[in-house]
Amino acid sequence: MEINFKGVTQSYGGVTLFKDLDLKIPSGEFFSLLGPSGSGKTTLLRLLAGFIRPDSGHILFGERDVTRVPVHKRNIGIVFQDYALFPDRTVLANVCYGLRARGVGKREAESRALEMLTQVGLEGFGSRMPAELSGGQKQRVAMARALVIKPGLFLLDEPLSALDVKLRLELRRLIRKLQQQSRITTVFVTHDQSEALAVSDRIAVVDHGRIVQMGTPSEIYTRPDCIFVSDFFGWSRLPVEEELEPGATGLRRLKLKTAGVALTDGKRPFEAGMQLAFRPDRVGIAAPSGDLAEGEVAAKVVSAEYRGGTVEYELDTSDGMIRAEVPSTGTVFAAGDDVTATLPSNGRLVGEQP
Ligand SMILES: Nc1ncnc2c1ncn2[C@@H]1O[C@H](COP(=O)(O)OP(=O)(O)OP(=O)(O)O)[C@@H](O)[C@H]1O
Ligand SMILES: [Mg+2]
Repeated sequence: MEINFKGVTQSYGGVTLFKDLDLKIPSGEFFSLLGPSGSGKTTLLRLLAGFIRPDSGHILFGERDVTRVPVHKRNIGIVFQDYALFPDRTVLANVCYGLRARGVGKREAESRALEMLTQVGLEGFGSRMPAELSGGQKQRVAMARALVIKPGLFLLDEPLSALDVKLRLELRRLIRKLQQQSRITTVFVTHDQSEALAVSDRIAVVDHGRIVQMGTPSEIYTRPDCIFVSDFFGWSRLPVEEELEPGATGLRRLKLKTAGVALTDGKRPFEAGMQLAFRPDRVGIAAPSGDLAEGEVAAKVVSAEYRGGTVEYELDTSDGMIRAEVPSTGTVFAAGDDVTATLPSNGRLVGEQP
């Protein structure tokens, strides 16, 4: 089912959160809303579910305008962070609930619920009570309960954030698998970038009620459009003063504020106030040796954190702090060491939000 927001405006107590939002999610897509706390992710989900209505604009499911359709008539499966199972009903009864409410007979409801429980890896758990389940198992039940009705739209609001890391990985794979099998249009809310990258067909990055960038995981990860997105995905950045004449290498030359000249093959035109963003895993560091070449900056190690395969450094350049993630097999530096950092030539120019 295709989802369409047309000029949706939403405010809380006179404060506008979403203004004239247009957003189309194609049928069958796994779509994630990614953004920090308070950016409006849950609000968008609540609009989709029908828990709240927009001040103006329309929400369409396919051809159907659902703007004024109540929650229970939208044929939606929802999973929240906190499970929200009926505590006094068995697992099987929880999963059957939506089917029974839709008038499906007891036998058929139970057989479909049992099949769904198997799909989420809970074969044989039907007679347990929710209190007898682990957090991960409860969330599997919540997914089974949401999907057993074959909803037109599957909504998940931070479903994994109460779980430990290992379970999160396991369950996000399960969510992705269930979605791929069923091809139900899915909107997944998270503030965890790696989670969004791992499961989504497309991601919308939300900031203060605005979708600041939308694209496939690799587009968003490799080509942030603005400072907000590059920061969110852990890029480092340094201010850039101006663009200089191209160098002998053919790469574009950007004058950093005080720390020298960076090279880039990026295509974005330079505009005043832009910064050069680059991924920490593309930054190299070495002991200082004489003059700085283009693409190199002088820095002092502020902290060094051993991560196993890599060491993560915080580096103080005279233009600002940057990070470097380098293989732990090379020379390891310590806080206070002077180093030369080599910036990658595939940095990206980013500015304030478009
Ligand atoms: N019922 C409400 N009344 C007034 N303001 C609200 C209400 N619900 C949310 N807000 C405000 O709207 C903004 C967006 O909230 P929302 O819950 O959509 O954010 P979120 O991105 O889901 O955040 P989180 O990651 O913390 O769950 C916040 O500033 C929040 O304080
Ligand atoms: Mg939320």
